[in-house]
Amino acid sequence: MNNQIYLAPSILSADLLKLEEQVNLVIENGADFIHVDVMDGHFVPNLTFGTNIVKALKRFVKIPIDVHLMITNPDKYIAEYAKAGADILTVHQEVSPHLHRTIQSIKENGMKAGVSINPSTSVSTLEYIIGDVDLILIMSVNPGFGGQTFIEKSIYKIQKVRGMLDKANSKAFLEVDGGINLETAKLVVKAGANVLVAGNSIFGQKNIPEATKNLKNIL
Ligand code: DX5
Ligand code: ZN
Repeated sequence: MNNQIYLAPSILSADLLKLEEQVNLVIENGADFIHVDVMDGHFVPNLTFGTNIVKALKRFVKIPIDVHLMITNPDKYIAEYAKAGADILTVHQEVSPHLHRTIQSIKENGMKAGVSINPSTSVSTLEYIIGDVDLILIMSVNPGFGGQTFIEKSIYKIQKVRGMLDKANSKAFLEVDGGINLETAKLVVKAGANVLVAGNSIFGQKNIPEATKNLKNIL
C-alpha cells in the first residue's frame, strides 16, 4: 500500500460567504481533496448543497472534489455530478439496492466510485463490491451534521475493511468521516485509514491555515 495519507477538509463547516477564500486557504496548507457533503433531508435529517456548489468549486479548485452523497436514489443524480465536476462520487450502501450497478455507472461517468456505510451498518455489506470500488468511506458519526463526537467502534470497522482491501489486493482509498481531530486522526490512521475528512477541526477553527497544517503534520 502507498503510505500517503490524504486530508479532505469538508466545506460543511466553512463560511459560505467566504467559501473561495477558505477553500484556497486549506489547499495552500496541504489539503488533498475538497469534501462536499450533499444531504437531502430524507436519508439524513439535514439539507445542504447540490450540483451548483460543485460547479462553483470547479471554477477554482484544481485538486480532486470528493462528493459524499447522503441522499436516497443516488443513481438519478450520477450524470449531473459528473457534469458539475465531481472527481470522486460516494454513495451510501443503505440507499443503494443495486450497488454493483451504481458503482459501474459512476465509473462509466468518468468518476472514481466510493461506497459509504453508517456506524450501524456491518462491513460485511461491502464483501461483494470491495474489489470494484475506488474508495470505501467509513462513517464515524451518524451522518447529518458536523461537529459530532467520534464513535470509537469505528476503529474496529476500519481495521476490518483494511484487511478486506488488502486481501482483495485493492488500492482503493479507505476514508473516515466524522469527529476527526488531532487525537482521533492518529487512531484511524493506525487502524488503516488513508483519507481523513475533517470539517469542524479545520473550517470550525479561528486559524484555518494552522488547523490544516497541524492535522496534515500528524498524518
Ligand atoms: C457528516 C458529514 C461529514 C462532516 C464531518 O454527516 O458527512 O463530512 O462534515 O464533520 P466533522 O469533521 O465536523 O465531524
Ligand atoms: Zn462527508
